[in-house]
Amino acid sequence: MGLKDFLIKQLGRISPRLLASAERGLEAIPAVNQRIEKEYDEMMTELESSVKPYKDKFTSLTRIPEVGRDRAEILSEMEAMRAHEEAQWKDGFVSGAVYHGDAQHIDFLNQVYAINSQSNPLHADVWPSITKFEAEIVAMTASMLGGAGQEVCGTVSSGGTESVLLAMKAYRDRAREQKGITKPEMIVPVTAHAAFDKASQYFNIKTIHIPIDANFRADVDAARRAITPNTIVIVGSAPSFPHGAIDPIAELSEIAREHGIGFHTDACLGGFVLPWAEKLGFPVPSFDFRLRGVTSISADTHKYGYAAKGTSVILYRSRELLHYQYYTATDWPGGLYFSPTFAGSRPGALSAACWAALTSIGAQGYLNATKKILETAEAIKNGIRQIPELHILGDPLFVVAFASDSLDIYKVLDYMTRKKWSLNGLHKPSCVHLCITLRHTQPGVAERFIEDLKEAVTYVKGHPEEKGTMAPVYGMAATLPLRGLVSDMLKRYLDLIFKT
Ligand SMILES: Cc1ncc(COP(=O)(O)O)c(C=O)c1O
Repeated sequence: MGLKDFLIKQLGRISPRLLASAERGLEAIPAVNQRIEKEYDEMMTELESSVKPYKDKFTSLTRIPEVGRDRAEILSEMEAMRAHEEAQWKDGFVSGAVYHGDAQHIDFLNQVYAINSQSNPLHADVWPSITKFEAEIVAMTASMLGGAGQEVCGTVSSGGTESVLLAMKAYRDRAREQKGITKPEMIVPVTAHAAFDKASQYFNIKTIHIPIDANFRADVDAARRAITPNTIVIVGSAPSFPHGAIDPIAELSEIAREHGIGFHTDACLGGFVLPWAEKLGFPVPSFDFRLRGVTSISADTHKYGYAAKGTSVILYRSRELLHYQYYTATDWPGGLYFSPTFAGSRPGALSAACWAALTSIGAQGYLNATKKILETAEAIKNGIRQIPELHILGDPLFVVAFASDSLDIYKVLDYMTRKKWSLNGLHKPSCVHLCITLRHTQPGVAERFIEDLKEAVTYVKGHPEEKGTMAPVYGMAATLPLRGLVSDMLKRYLDLIFKT
């Protein structure tokens, strides 16, 4: 059982009476509060062994050791952990997570990292190599996303979330300075990544959610109706994380353009798949800078760009907008200071590895990888279509979400988990998804997935009396009115992660 699953399961343990008390706002009463605290403690104690599997196997340190440890011993401990963890993702049982994963590719990136491990692009004078790599990563990504020959510019960031946060901050600051907007609003489809909600919380931008249509794509009319004088940006995904649906970016970005507001395409997931898919002749709706209304795009090199984890690219149509992302300090006693993204010092080695991934794979390599992934996705989609009890949500390319009208899909997920699969259980609506990567293109993986899925459906149909491990609580996690309670529990979980 995945950790997230376990957490949700734990929610199901809280007694209905206690939940009812909390729902009526009684958690401020000391007795109720104490009971809730006790429940949390019990949950976290139970969770601890899964979060901390190495607790009893390796030395646990809470102080810097007096005498430094033996390097060989450190390496051997780490090797043991790597071997244990690699077994989970290497054979293609995991949705998303590791997008390439071939040993030779990993070894090459590791060599590049080793060469550049001391570098920090904050000191551009000391490491001009890294600024060269980063400038070229941005240029290559821009030209791949329809920005060739245009003013398109941008920066390298640490990941999809940072790229999204940077863009939303840039829109906010521009709107404040140029239009005097002090209560900014962004129009975001409900299926857009949680990073947008994070931006909303961090930067005080009000999110106006718009619904999705029957094909799981953002509702264009709703976007049009949602515009107010405070709107700073409209967002669309290419594709969305939950259902792999590509929002109607052409229509949405045109509405934004007509109103003189920004449009952000979140291509974190699809930025390094869709351009190649289009070249291969797959039906890819427009989503990039070839659309006049698209003013920024996030695209993750650390997903389908096959770089090591820790890089993404944020691009803008105009340098003027990019300047609202930058930070400069002119009066600090530390001297003139400036940085392009949220971090100060940054790992230049990751940018070097990213550049090395892009340039060693090359357009031909990306085309081949995309072809393999999309062919595997076709095989998996066809397999799912042959299971009468299941249906695919929308018309996805490579993130395939499926649901059932006759069975509890979470019971199917339970069974798949028992068969070693690590799939994503989603809610609103209840479904499960598989994000297909190069790991799944290995011989036999797609077939194994479909066989196991068929077996899961047969089993669930044949055992209606079984409640399942996760099934009863998944539904509850989605519908529980107490989102504050759910949120509190997630915070306790984060505390647990940092416990030694
Ligand atoms: C569509 C989309 N946007 C943004 C993100 C956030 O990316 P990261 O996890 O690299 O911060 C993801 C991650 O899966 C995503 O799928």
